[in-house]
Amino acid sequence: VNRMPLIAGNWKMNLDHLQTVAFIQKLHWSLRDGGHTEGTVDVAVFPPFTDLRTAQTLIDADKIPFALGGQDLSAHDSGAYTGEVSGAFLAKLDCRYVIIGHSERRQYHSETDEVVGSKVQAALRHGLVPVICVGETAEDLEEFGASAVPVSQLNVALESVPADAEIVVAYEPVWAIGSGQAATPDQAQDVCAKLREVVAAKLGADAAARTRILYGGSVKAANIASFMREPDVDGALVGGASLVVDEFSSIIRYQK
Ligand code: G3H
Repeated sequence: VNRMPLIAGNWKMNLDHLQTVAFIQKLHWSLRDGGHTEGTVDVAVFPPFTDLRTAQTLIDADKIPFALGGQDLSAHDSGAYTGEVSGAFLAKLDCRYVIIGHSERRQYHSETDEVVGSKVQAALRHGLVPVICVGETAEDLEEFGASAVPVSQLNVALESVPADAEIVVAYEPVWAIGSGQAATPDQAQDVCAKLREVVAAKLGADAAARTRILYGGSVKAANIASFMREPDVDGALVGGASLVVDEFSSIIRYQK
């Protein structure tokens, strides 16, 4: 099966709506000037909620081939949930994806595997593709090895997900996020292969063959190709390096 690679930029709490417009424009030009061939890789950016409207307007007006996504969503569809953002609102802003269960949400907002599971359901209700993040902390790694925690997180997140749902899985070892210390391609491949087995067990062989599994954690232009050469790594969820136009542009233009 040929899975279209996906390079996703999670901007976290960076870039306001004006900076977002400038960034998207510059990235688009950089890809064009760099000889990037459209349609060889899916590109998605995940700006803060407050930037989505201006990003959508620009992408639409200039026919820029980037997909948009939210960095989180509410498990609820509407109602008295002050400060929350519904998947319905993201869908109306042409978001295609939504990140769910990022380790920063799990750590700073006490998101449990069950909360992540209910957010996956919310995303699917609104036609969004959930980018389900899983990964072990340094302590987990020491105690249980690399794959046990991400495998169990994904098992819970995929509870009640229909076999034909489009999902993306992102394996992000917490110790590799923002540390400059990426996993080795071998380590990433090993866990991504085990995560694909989870998708197969939960959703079936077809879903496993079709589902894109990303690696995230200190991805940069200098190491992207080494990850993309691995058979079970279908792309990257990029944090810090997605905030630098030339760097992110080089990541998107990686050569295996
Ligand atoms: O969602 C992105 C990840 O947390 C990776 O962040 O590329 O800055 O290590 P990083």
